[in-house]
Amino acid sequence: MAGVLVTGGTGKTGRPLVDVLRRAGAPIRVASRHPSAHDPDAVRFDWDDPATHADALRGMDRIYLVPPANSVDPMPRVGPFLDEAERLGVRRVVLLGSAIVLPDAPGPLELAERIRSRPGWAVLRPSGFMQNFVGAHPVAERIRRDGEIRTAAGDGRLGWIDARDIAAAASALLTGLLDPDGPRDHLLTGPAALSYRDAAAIITARTGRPIRVRHISVDELAGNYQAAGIPEVFATALAGVDAGIRAGREDLVSTAVLDLTGRPPRSFADFVQDHAGEWARSAPPGR
Ligand SMILES: NC(=O)c1ccc[n+]([C@@H]2O[C@H](COP(=O)([O-])OP(=O)(O)OC[C@H]3O[C@@H](n4cnc5c(N)ncnc54)[C@H](OP(=O)(O)O)[C@@H]3O)[C@@H](O)[C@H]2O)c1
Repeated sequence: MAGVLVTGGTGKTGRPLVDVLRRAGAPIRVASRHPSAHDPDAVRFDWDDPATHADALRGMDRIYLVPPANSVDPMPRVGPFLDEAERLGVRRVVLLGSAIVLPDAPGPLELAERIRSRPGWAVLRPSGFMQNFVGAHPVAERIRRDGEIRTAAGDGRLGWIDARDIAAAASALLTGLLDPDGPRDHLLTGPAALSYRDAAAIITARTGRPIRVRHISVDELAGNYQAAGIPEVFATALAGVDAGIRAGREDLVSTAVLDLTGRPPRSFADFVQDHAGEWARSAPPGR
């Protein structure tokens, strides 16, 4: 057992994965553009700086792969990284993909296909993260600031999942016995599909903070994402996802978290309970 390189090791799924792997005693390397000086496992890693890739990979035989953020075209950076990984002896990769297919963006699908083509490698396809409702995400910031959610998804539902359950599923796949004939694609959801209106009602019921849901167009949503700092091409693709949610395409629930981890996924109500202080007007953007 050599070790797991956790890319996105400071992110919503990478951070809890690091915790789970450490508890399991697995050797790890925590990749970040700004590695913590206090963490002996931290390593500098930047998708935009290929010179950092080999050092991060050396000695590792497994990878949790979080592709470059806010990009509809990951292959030019991830393809050569995977070539190098295979050359250096990596034998298992778990990709953080998505249940949500970005419109007019073949790149993420091409990446998932490459991962699925290798025996024992796996693609996680989580639904929307519950963590979008907290921290620095535009949805969370609008709730804290205005007590409002703006969506172009109508009352379409999503199988919201807690990022901690994605981490648990990833850990199971990274540390379990390698099964070359096992499933290579895992649709990960929470226990129920909920609309933004349902989610707002749960937050209000648990915290007392009233939250309005305002229905806007896909174009307006794309403008909001851009105003929040998301690059135009990705903002447009991300906003387009809401049309699919509205049409019911993300109204999905799977048993994969239970199947992989032996524990049922957390409900949205549990998630809200765990983050109850997050929706106060004065709450700082946390994780
Ligand atoms: N949010 C959702 O609802 C949702 C749903 C399904 C799938 N996903 C997928 O989840 C993935 C993560 O999304 P997220 O927004 O939640 O991000 P995140 O995992 O919370 O944070 C992004 C991570 O990527 C790292 N990173 C950013 N730029 C990097 C670069 N140039 N080189 C190396 N590392 C870099 C950051 O590390 P440092 O800043 O420390 O370098 C951070 O750890 C995306 O691929 C997305 O498609 C998200």
